[in-house]
Amino acid sequence: MQKFFAGLGLLTMIGLTGSVQAREACTYEPTVLVHGGAGDVSDAAIPNKKLGVKLAARKGFEILRYTGSVLDAVEAAVNSLEADPNFNAGYGSVLNWDGEVEMDAAIMNGADLSAGCVSLARDIINPISLARRIMESTKHRYIAGPGAMRIAEQEGFNLLPPGALITEAAIKALQDYKNSLNATQTQKGVVYGSPGTVGAVAIDACGNVAAATSTGGLTGKLPGRIGDSPILGGGTYADNESGAVSATGHGETIMRYNVVARMLALVEHGNYTAQEAAVQVLEQMTQRFNETAGIIAVDYRGQLGIYFTSNRMSWAYQRGNQVHFGVDAGEDEIEFGEPRTTDN
Ligand code: GLY
Repeated sequence: MQKFFAGLGLLTMIGLTGSVQAREACTYEPTVLVHGGAGDVSDAAIPNKKLGVKLAARKGFEILRYTGSVLDAVEAAVNSLEADPNFNAGYGSVLNWDGEVEMDAAIMNGADLSAGCVSLARDIINPISLARRIMESTKHRYIAGPGAMRIAEQEGFNLLPPGALITEAAIKALQDYKNSLNATQTQKGVVYGSPGTVGAVAIDACGNVAAATSTGGLTGKLPGRIGDSPILGGGTYADNESGAVSATGHGETIMRYNVVARMLALVEHGNYTAQEAAVQVLEQMTQRFNETAGIIAVDYRGQLGIYFTSNRMSWAYQRGNQVHFGVDAGEDEIEFGEPRTTDN
């Protein structure tokens, strides 16, 4: 396990498949960065969004501090958001056309490119933890539907009664969506934006990175629809050689444009910073497809990228004793010291 506060001058030897990668000295600033989804966040929703992302960043950072594991950190941060009904993941997930919750998630470790992905998960509050179990307990990288739920059962997940993840807000959103459709659109399966997909990226003192993304998808999606979040290189990716990224937004577009892979290619091969790459890829995607998305990223230099072409995206990160957060473009509020219990 990498130590959070490793001494200067240490070399970290990280095992890669078939090789050993020597990293620079452990001089990075450990950071946990989260998002709570890109889209049309209403003014009324902002306070709870900010509270939720700040809490998640703090929880992830605490775990990073005490376990030294970037994987533990991104899982803990996403678990926090999955338990928060103000976000579209775990409890609070949006509903498919049949009024059911079907969730996607992926987690990836940049040190060895190990990864776990799950789709069509039901009746568990933490799909990101199921993705991690798939990564660590099976020989596969991506399992969906009943097979994934069998693993959840075998791994001792708390299987909730059907419907336990459904909130009143999700029921109303589905009804509003159905009311807004005409018959032609329904047949085409047109989907409706539902901000609140969640994600986290982290870097430790030695430059090890990880990424995690979890979502209920889109309100009114067809049953069985899978978005970008669990697709490696689509909505989630981590590699110590380039960085870690979690995307949010219109999944059908993000996966077609291979947003996260494009972004990391610019970082690794084009000498872009995470921020420069995020701006370029998302602006190009939005121009080409007329759809929006958001990205959080940490690159292999430890620099952060936070960008969205949607109206808003809630995000927060903790680095040292500072927690930065925002929702609107250009916003960067800072809190210092111990966590607040209320947003004042
Ligand atoms: N970006 C989340 C989804 O489209 O499912």
